[in-house]
Amino acid sequence: MAPMLGITDSAYRTAFMRSFGGLDLAITPFIKTIQGGRYKESKLADLLPSRNRQISIIPQILSNNSADVIVVATELFDMGYDKININFGCPVPMTAGRGRGAGLLPHPEFVDRFLDEILAVIPNKLSIKTRIGFDRTDQLLLMAKVFNRYPLCEIAVHPRTARQGYSGLVNHEAFAEVLAVLNAPIIYSGDINSLETFIDLIKLYPEISSWMIGRGALGNPNLPALITRYLESGDDGEGIEALTPAKLVAFYDEICRELAIRNLAKNHILARAKTLFYYHADFCKTEKHVIRAVRKSKSIEQFLKLASESTW
Ligand SMILES: Cc1cc2nc3c(=O)[nH]c(=O)nc-3n(C[C@H](O)[C@H](O)[C@H](O)COP(=O)(O)O)c2cc1C
Repeated sequence: MAPMLGITDSAYRTAFMRSFGGLDLAITPFIKTIQGGRYKESKLADLLPSRNRQISIIPQILSNNSADVIVVATELFDMGYDKININFGCPVPMTAGRGRGAGLLPHPEFVDRFLDEILAVIPNKLSIKTRIGFDRTDQLLLMAKVFNRYPLCEIAVHPRTARQGYSGLVNHEAFAEVLAVLNAPIIYSGDINSLETFIDLIKLYPEISSWMIGRGALGNPNLPALITRYLESGDDGEGIEALTPAKLVAFYDEICRELAIRNLAKNHILARAKTLFYYHADFCKTEKHVIRAVRKSKSIEQFLKLASESTW
């Protein structure tokens, strides 16, 4: 499961695995370090093993300060996480513009020191999630020499630049170039939104054995199970229970309950449920008047009732 800030937290991961499954690992949305090795307590709480029994996770850190990463990584190790992931992909201007996330990609010398200092100390194994560049398509390629100096356990690559955000075409040319030069095992992340797309990708990159799904699973939560089924038996979904409004509403209901257990305020729970509904509505081309009605819903109960009436 791809990390998606504000969406794929422990409540979503738990409900997703209970309702749909088909995934074997999740990289979590990032914890941003604050100077002095601090962070938001609620972010670390979401990583408690007791909240993460349904799927294995790799916690992700967003930082450009090696001392801060060391503090957080060590704390995560003590919680039981022997692997952490560092974010080299966040495109948000407030982050990337300040040299974090994808803002690290144009600075190989800095990254060399950053990784050297971190890996000399942390007890965890290190994985990285990145894009092909910040504002150019060759910046990951230029960074490859640096990454290859370190024992990274994997690199997840989203083949877009930060400038592209999440739209425009994924850049297969640039991805193929970095795939050829990076030593660490590569995870592909980007626009896997149907079984057909996935089949095209495994033909294009037969050397890749790990795939990351984000928005495709938000739109169609059955997709990971469909893909796993295809990989295991070559069939195209026979035996997978069809996605119905009732099944989807049961899933939303479960997420809302998981968020309530985590003491999230009702208005925030409703906002989260609506966000998930919009991704799904976009995928199923839900009629505009239904989306409008859902947008106006004032309570979780009203939201669930309206969502159960949507058709596709
Ligand atoms: C709303 C949203 C939040 C995201 N948050 C993170 C994040 O916290 N860390 C990260 O590495 N990537 C993040 N991503 C990027 C995704 O993990 C993924 O690489 C990207 O969406 C492409 O994959 P997809 O087309 O399967 O969604 C986010 C993407 C979206 C749309």
